[in-house]
Amino acid sequence: MWCFSKLQTVHGLRRCSLLPFMSRAGYGDVRSTRPHLFTTPIFYVNAPPHLGHVYSALLADVQHRYSGLCERDTLLSTGTDEHGIKVQQAAVALGLDPSKLCTQVSQQFRTMFDEMAISYTDFVRTTESRHAQAVCHFWKMLEKQGYIYKGTYQGWYCTSDEAFLSEEQTRERIDPEGNKIRVSLESGHEVQWMSEENYMFRLSSLRPKLLCWLQTDPIQPAPFLRIVQHWLEEELPDLSVSRQRNRVSWGIPVPSDPSHTIYVWLDALINYLTAAGYPDPNLSPWGPSTHFLGKDILRFHAIYWPAFLIAAGLPPPSKLFVHSHWTCEGVKMSKSLKNVVDPSECIIQYTRDGLRYFLLRHGSPERDCDFTHNTVCKLLNSELADALGGLLNRCTANTINPEQCWPHYQCMSVPLLAHDKLQKMLGALQELPGQVDQFVNRFHVHKALEAIDGSVRCSNAFFQSQAPWKLLKGGEEEKTWGYSVLYLTLEALRLYATLLQPAVPGLATAILDRLGVATIYRKLKGNHFFTATRGEECCFQGQALGPDCGLLYPRLEVDQEKPIVTNKKTEFENNPL
Ligand code: ME8
Ligand code: MG
Repeated sequence: MWCFSKLQTVHGLRRCSLLPFMSRAGYGDVRSTRPHLFTTPIFYVNAPPHLGHVYSALLADVQHRYSGLCERDTLLSTGTDEHGIKVQQAAVALGLDPSKLCTQVSQQFRTMFDEMAISYTDFVRTTESRHAQAVCHFWKMLEKQGYIYKGTYQGWYCTSDEAFLSEEQTRERIDPEGNKIRVSLESGHEVQWMSEENYMFRLSSLRPKLLCWLQTDPIQPAPFLRIVQHWLEEELPDLSVSRQRNRVSWGIPVPSDPSHTIYVWLDALINYLTAAGYPDPNLSPWGPSTHFLGKDILRFHAIYWPAFLIAAGLPPPSKLFVHSHWTCEGVKMSKSLKNVVDPSECIIQYTRDGLRYFLLRHGSPERDCDFTHNTVCKLLNSELADALGGLLNRCTANTINPEQCWPHYQCMSVPLLAHDKLQKMLGALQELPGQVDQFVNRFHVHKALEAIDGSVRCSNAFFQSQAPWKLLKGGEEEKTWGYSVLYLTLEALRLYATLLQPAVPGLATAILDRLGVATIYRKLKGNHFFTATRGEECCFQGQALGPDCGLLYPRLEVDQEKPIVTNKKTEFENNPL
């Protein structure tokens, strides 16, 4: 939880108190114990979901599922961003009522997240009345605190990013038809000049408080924190937070002046408060939160959002977790460029858990990643089909385990030659849950999966080196060691599957089912592994395995011809009404 008194003592930041702002707005006690809120961005409904959206949702989903595994109470909200000129224009282009387009595409996002097993606890649509209430209340708080005034905005506007830009944030470019156009430096999208009387937000006055917030190290990974620090080295201009309604009608009207529409980014960011139950302070005051987002929307989350919150007397976000982009042949996958990968196609080709595993294992927050069919096949064949699937098959197959049960482990059975190898392996396995915990807590899920894969490979090598299939055909002593090797391998698999549940819930469940592990033994908290090797009780010894589930993950065919880039359209584009 963002707690100022702790901040003061830890960082000695006595000069930058945010506390008065909180109490003035009636949220004096920010130390309430509400569940941690994980959020994804809410996505524009101008086009259907693609792989990039799924990736953000997946990163948040893993954190939420991992918290559940550790029996921590957390929430996960996602949703759709349905207002603004971008959506308004998309509806006009399709000859549709905007609300129809919103409902249709919002449902596509929801369906996609369900298909991907994103365990969201709330799905916010900005066209819902609970959200409009939150936005209106928030606007009034900003007004009450003196942060809103009427002024004239003159500058560039980028519809694609729904962003106001200064001259320095744009540059000239020649388009493919040879015309001179002006584009956003950051996104490359075209901008238009606008000059309009509208409501302004005193962003400039909040720079010192934003700098103070940055000292709590709220942005990960570090390179993105440095970008924001760099932005804040200069004065901030005030921000236009409304558009005249005759130009942008698709949005929430300014409460005191319906001739203006609230700026879509202010509207959209407040969705995180809507998910927290705002504006009812008794029900669910705004508390600790981690926002997952792509680097394209860093400025909105790292400058505007904390500034809005501070201005309204609320604590700024606890953490922003920023990730890089998925590219197609080096170019950012984006709805406007139509070079997107359709997640539904991927689910058909690789299965849901195959796709989840690939995105989490191959994606890295710090650098852009290219999505190609061959890379997917190579990674999934090697890590899921061969290493993990192979290990499961080796210790559960009828040929090696005809009784289909967990054998007993005998401490005395370890041959001298295997002793050191075993101790080394057990030592590494003992450390694995702690390593995974550290990686996940630092949002390095790809490293957690890498560590698990490394261990799976060690287990395979150990199994191979001990050759239990031979030992079980030998004398009494050899047999006892052979059973112990089987026990060790089953126990290692139980550990891997338990740890893999947040990333690949379906595959992990299949392994735990096959191992006959009861639901109460599937959490991390209070679960112990390899107890028999320490001479302690292990309830699995002598227990039956679960029914055979067949191949865990079938090998994929590496086929260069497979198309992965699609120009999928909304249903309305396919079947215009
Ligand atoms: O910006 N790789 O919505 P949006 C990885 N409505 N992630 C990607 C991606 C890619 N190629 N493309 C998109 C908006 N994303 C606003 C957000 S939040 C209050 C409002 C993901 O539909 C990534 O999370 O353009 C990015 O930040 C987000 O989708 C942008 O989605
Ligand atoms: Mg976008």
